[in-house]
Amino acid sequence: MVSEKLFKKLNDQMNFEFESANIYLAMAAYSASIDLDGFENFFLVQAEEERFHAMKFYNYINEVDGRATISSYNEPENQYESLLSALEKALGHEQIVTKRIYDLMDLAQEEKEYATISMLQWFIDEQVEEESMFKKLIQKVKMVGENSNGLMQLDKELASRTFTPPADDAE
Ligand SMILES: [Fe+2]
Repeated sequence: MVSEKLFKKLNDQMNFEFESANIYLAMAAYSASIDLDGFENFFLVQAEEERFHAMKFYNYINEVDGRATISSYNEPENQYESLLSALEKALGHEQIVTKRIYDLMDLAQEEKEYATISMLQWFIDEQVEEESMFKKLIQKVKMVGENSNGLMQLDKELASRTFTPPADDAE
């Protein structure tokens, strides 16, 4: 049985994932404003991933007979000093998400809520990938530095990123 306390935390996380989608959408718009269409695409795909994460929580809450409630989200930052600064903020955001998922896991374990533990395990693994992806991208942008050809090349590479939901989650 999922407790009220755990339901509330799951619901909060669902809303936080929707909020994350908005943050990445704002980063996509910023990238478009500085003519980096590949980065725009990268962030748009990231926003889609976040909505997918949110819907994973939404579906889980419903499956275990909870009631998902949608709240309004904080306004994301829309202006950034630089692309690098946006990416560093994205990494910082993912680190907060990881901490939140760990807190959720702590509570699920405390309550011996094994189904929820199993669901959260997916997110624990996912967060390792998310953080690593942003760390690598930050490194690449730092390496490229002031070299505009390098940045164009990187932008081109990111134009091909597409969103594919994991096979076992295609419903
Ligand atoms: Fe997420």
